[in-house]
Parts: sequence; C-alpha cells; structure tokens
Amino acid sequence: MPCMDSHTVGGYRKQDIAATTSGTSCRLATLADAEPISALAIQVFLDTYATEGVRPDLAREALSEYSREQFEQRLQDPGRTFVLATLGLGLLGFAEILVDPQPSPIAGDAGAELVRLYVQPRAQHAGVGSGLIAQAEAIAAQAGAAGLWLTAWDGNTHALGFYEHLGYSDVGQTSYTMQSQSFGNRVLYKVVESLSDSQPLRPASSGPSATT
Ligand SMILES: CC(C)(COP(=O)(O)OP(=O)(O)OC[C@H]1O[C@@H](n2cnc3c(N)ncnc32)[C@H](O)[C@@H]1OP(=O)(O)O)[C@@H](O)C(=O)NCCC(=O)NCCS
Repeated sequence: MPCMDSHTVGGYRKQDIAATTSGTSCRLATLADAEPISALAIQVFLDTYATEGVRPDLAREALSEYSREQFEQRLQDPGRTFVLATLGLGLLGFAEILVDPQPSPIAGDAGAELVRLYVQPRAQHAGVGSGLIAQAEAIAAQAGAAGLWLTAWDGNTHALGFYEHLGYSDVGQTSYTMQSQSFGNRVLYKVVESLSDSQPLRPASSGPSATT
C-alpha cells in the first residue's frame, strides 16, 4: 500500500514511510517540485472537472491557478505543507495543507485545511489518496490542530464518497468562485489525533525545504 503499511493505530493507518511493498513513498515537497506538481495538478483538474470538454473558464483556471509560478509561491509559504506520493522520480499525487488552524466556512470548526488532494488518474484506486490524507491528518495533529477540514464541489460525488469512507463528516455548505462563476461546495471535517509512533516526513535530499 503506498505510503503506509496495512496496520491501523488509533483509527489511522500506521505509517511506514521508508519502505513500501509497491515502491511508492511519501515525502515533503521542495521548491524544485513546483513544475511536476503544476503539471499533475493541471492534469487532474481537467480530468476531474472538464468532463464535457475543456471550456475556456476551466482552461483559464487551470493555467492561472495551477501554473508553476503559483506553486512556487505556495511552496515558499511557511504556513503551507505539500506531501508528495512518488514512484521513483515520478509524481503520483500530492496533498496541500494549510497547517496553522484556519477558520472553516462553518462556525466553530477551525483546524488545518486540506487545500488540495490530487492523485494522477492512472494511480487512483490504489491507496495513494488515503496514504496522502493520513499524512495530512498526522501533520495537522502534530501542528496542534483539532481537526482537518476541506471543501469539495458538490458535483464531485467520487471525492465526497472517498472522504465519507475515510471518516469525514459533511458539516455544511459554502461556495467557490471560479472565473466569476459560483459553484456549490460541501464542507467536510474530521477530528485528528496525533500518532505517537509516526515518523516525520522529510523533503528530498537536496533543494530548499517547502516548510521552514
Ligand atoms: C479523490 C481521490 C483523491 C481519491 O484518491 P485515490 O488514491 O483514488 O483513493 P484510494 O485508492 O486511496 O481510496 C481509499 C479508500 O477510499 C475508498 N473510496 C474511494 N472512492 C470512494 C467512493 N467514491 N466512495 C466510497 N469509498 C471510496 C476506496 O475503496 C478505498 O477504500 P479501502 O482503503 O478500504 O480499500 C482521487 O480520486 C483524486 O485525486 N480525484 C481527482 C481530484 C479530486 O477530486 N480531489 C478531491 C478534490 S476535493
């Protein structure tokens, strides 16, 4: 199973970062990862949302919000952490977390925010997403957040089912404005617990760290 072994501790998959049976592993991102993160984000965004062709608004959103420059800026934000799932040199997916407690759109549900969780289409359904989200939860808990919250487009039934399967509660609704159009989003929340035996993730051996 990517990033994790198959045991569970306290409701989470026990982390086994160093060795995995599949060859997939997790690490923190560095600034040098901006380009592959950007390319993967555009691929997954279009695969998920451009289900009836690439509309101009979707193209603009993908090329502006998910550009290499945008990810370079986010990678240098000290409050933001990126966890990558990799197979050798290849990027399979990433989780982007705003680590310090963030006010959620739902009053009273502050916590770290899972900003994005993207897995390359051909790597989906193989445990990569759940491995990344377990890392995000551990990072949130280690930072002192009571919970992890996220928003998901209400038409993304696959992602909503995935989060529900992993114990996230639907706590309300909000909206997301993309290229002047508003889309309904669900707000999902889960209480997180610290793992006493978790190994801290590290960035690749060279390059500036994404977290300072
Ligand atoms: C949503 C996403 C991150 C899931 O990642 P993934 O790697 O395919 O998910 P996993 O293989 O880790 O699935 C984990 C578990 O969730 C279950 N699951 C996945 N989708 C599910 C669904 N729609 N309903 C119920 N359970 C689901 C799997 O069966 C698996 O269960 P198991 O661990 O008991 O076997 C991935 O599909 C993705 O990147 N989608 C496109 C981008 C996106 O929508 N991101 C979320 C935006 S909010």
